[in-house]
Amino acid sequence: MATALVTGASSGIGETFAHALAGRGQNLVLVARSAARLDALAAGLTTKHRIRADVIIADLADAGATDAIVAELGSRGIVVDTLINNAGFGTHGEFAALDPKRELDEIMVNCYALVALTRALLPGMIARKSGAVINVGSTASFQPVPYMATYGATKAFVLSFSEALAEEVRAQGVRVVALCPGQTETAFFSNIEEARVGRARTPKQVVTTALRALDRGAVVAIDGLSNYALANSNRFAPRRLVARIAAKIERPKSLKSK
Ligand SMILES: NC(=O)c1ccc[n+]([C@@H]2O[C@H](COP(=O)([O-])OP(=O)(O)OC[C@H]3O[C@@H](n4cnc5c(N)ncnc54)[C@H](OP(=O)(O)O)[C@@H]3O)[C@@H](O)[C@H]2O)c1
Repeated sequence: MATALVTGASSGIGETFAHALAGRGQNLVLVARSAARLDALAAGLTTKHRIRADVIIADLADAGATDAIVAELGSRGIVVDTLINNAGFGTHGEFAALDPKRELDEIMVNCYALVALTRALLPGMIARKSGAVINVGSTASFQPVPYMATYGATKAFVLSFSEALAEEVRAQGVRVVALCPGQTETAFFSNIEEARVGRARTPKQVVTTALRALDRGAVVAIDGLSNYALANSNRFAPRRLVARIAAKIERPKSLKSK
């Protein structure tokens, strides 16, 4: 049976990926920090779908976390066929005033861990001439996002990295998808409520979009028609204008009166 590793499986889009992949009969490796949530998810999926679900607790902001995950996979004899790099978070506010440690953690979780896990697991997929990597970007991948500067930059990285890799491994039996959701009903905005833009879609819609893209060999999967239109509307506009409009939308309320 094939095995999928899902980072950020304790909540939202990652948890929904876990349900969908278990439904496809895949074994799972569930990665995040919330041990109790992952244990409960693994137990539920094992009973419902008769799959194997392993839990690996990891804080992906730690530089050593991905090596520890790979070592753990080795010691449990797990071969990963599908890697879902989903764990991520965003910060909102004036960059110069945001907690510097959290900005760097954001890069570690959204980019460093994604690259490290891909680098560790891709060679095996290439050798087996089969496998898939889904990297979770965002509609923020397509434009600069003032007041979410680090977040937007991490997601632009995810898109660029994924598109490049997809092309490199195209003829080697491995598929790479950049999944780009817009606002989605998850815990993502719980600490950054005022950063919400537009109507939210459900994690189920997002995961359906991703798996459809994977099945038909698409590289970039933007979830939802209006998100697709928004992402593409930026293409021919001057970047500076796009940044200015985004700044108006994302500017914290506390600054609007200034
Ligand atoms: N929701 C949206 O509107 C939206 C839009 C575009 C893109 N996205 C992207 O979708 C992905 C999933 O987010 P979500 O919307 O499902 O949000 P969520 O419900 O907050 O889930 C985030 C997941 O990431 C994990 N995570 C966060 N920090 C981590 C760390 N240091 N180490 C390990 N795991 C960590 C969390 O697990 P623990 O807390 O248990 O560690 C959780 O499972 C993210 O990459 C996000 O950027 C979301």
